[in-house]
Amino acid sequence: MYNEINLEKIEINSDPPAKEPDRQYYFIAKCREWVREFERENGRCPTACVQTFGCQMNARDSEKLRGILGQAGLENCGKEEADFVLYNTCTVRDHANQKVYGRLGYLQTLKKKNPRMKIALCGCMMQEPTVVERIQKSYPFVDLIFGTHNIYKLAELLYCCLTERGMVVDVWDSADAVVEDLPAERKYSFKSGVNIMYGCNNFCSYCIVPYVRGRERSREPGEILAEIRRLAADGVKEVMLLGQNVNSYGKNLSEPVSFAELLRQVDCIDGIERIRFMTSHPKDLSSELILAMKECKKVCRHLHLPLQSGSSRILERMNRRYTKEQYLELVNRIRQAIPDISLTTDIIVGFPGETEADFEETLDVVRRVRYDSAFTFIYSKRTKTPAASMGDQVDPVVVKERFERLLREVQQISSQVCMRDAHTIQEVLVECENDHQEGYVSGRLSNNLLVHFPGDPSLVGKLVSVELTEPKGFYYIGRMVDRTEVENEWIITDDGAVCGDKEAI
Ligand code: SAH
Ligand code: SF4
Ligand code: F3S
Repeated sequence: MYNEINLEKIEINSDPPAKEPDRQYYFIAKCREWVREFERENGRCPTACVQTFGCQMNARDSEKLRGILGQAGLENCGKEEADFVLYNTCTVRDHANQKVYGRLGYLQTLKKKNPRMKIALCGCMMQEPTVVERIQKSYPFVDLIFGTHNIYKLAELLYCCLTERGMVVDVWDSADAVVEDLPAERKYSFKSGVNIMYGCNNFCSYCIVPYVRGRERSREPGEILAEIRRLAADGVKEVMLLGQNVNSYGKNLSEPVSFAELLRQVDCIDGIERIRFMTSHPKDLSSELILAMKECKKVCRHLHLPLQSGSSRILERMNRRYTKEQYLELVNRIRQAIPDISLTTDIIVGFPGETEADFEETLDVVRRVRYDSAFTFIYSKRTKTPAASMGDQVDPVVVKERFERLLREVQQISSQVCMRDAHTIQEVLVECENDHQEGYVSGRLSNNLLVHFPGDPSLVGKLVSVELTEPKGFYYIGRMVDRTEVENEWIITDDGAVCGDKEAI
């Protein structure tokens, strides 16, 4: 176990061990020696900054990267004016790549002011050979490049980059083994992401993720549960189980375990009060899972169920393996089992060959399902994916017009749907002090919506009852209520009727 390792006792003058994670502890200890030297020369601790682009999976990876840097003795400062800057990149859409190239120009100006500065890039974008070639050619001031499969090697790579000249590049095509048991520095003390699987086998025809994250690999349930128990002991109340397609969790284990079974086991862990998960592929969402979500009290009343397109013809070309009708039928089953669930989704506009009629089908699903919110994306051509070589790419002007229509529809529905809990009392996990209004804190409902209400910072990390007094379209203003008040008081409902029945609130 990582916490039990005494880094000061590691013999750093001998050869590095071959076995992982011992090898990385050795390099963490070597980096600490380098840090002490830096402190003697500069009279201060070297600083580090890890910036995340992309999804929850990358955000969790960044916590591990920060954990390693922290143990190596660098001070995580969160600012790009640091001595070591690491961008954890995303390549799901071209826009994500362009953001990184744009920021690199800025980092170069910072490096001119601080020549000791080291610049490192890792994550999904680095798994693309064309990207690495471009960086080597046009951004030679970058010091270190590594990919998604070897982030656990950061200490070794950092040591190499601190002590050698020239750009260090170490990108692997696939993962040999998942190395766990390394430190992580959580962004929040009270909530944490937990990887339950890595990679993806679905090969949706537009998507680059399977190429940059590799094949699907599930972690053993025992390891996941042990990690969550440790998190609970450390004060974590909410976990987000992470995978590109959590519904297919466990299929490739030597003793297969379903995601529904895993969920039930997590539900039994003392101290954990809320469970979320990301992402669900509609084709693998089983009745067993719907039942588990209904019966597990800690599972939040929110499901992110990416639609991508409402046209069965386009869904087939996307290789999504469900039809419009199957998707709608699934939504009905979920809503019948869990009527108060919030549904959110992802939609792509302008997939090759999308006609006006196909797009109307997407709008039709949006109107029928009435999502709490939807992430809408303009189709982006990704190297190596089958969709990139489809002949009938849609005119960008048409795509933009459809995108705006979709956005209007989604926002209009969302502003009505989101506010359905107005004037009820709900449980809120307080996340932070409010930046905009002094004396206020902000937290999230079980369905993930934000609530701002008067309160002091000591509430951060606590679950409290809040009356949602003012619906504001996409968030609420509320007022904290005493739990005894919730138990005993008569509540005035939306339409002015008075009742004492908690079910009817
Ligand atoms: N594994 C998740 C999604 C990961 S990517 C899932 O299957 O739901 C997040 C979202 O990015 C996808 O749901 C999709 O809507 C969008 N996306 C992926 N590739 C894209 C592309 N080439 N162009 C536009 N949007 C894309
Ligand atoms: Fe990409 Fe599809 Fe895998 Fe999601 S399920 S990561 S969209 S290939
Ligand atoms: Fe982006 Fe990689 Fe996630 S491509 S969306 S950061 S898995």
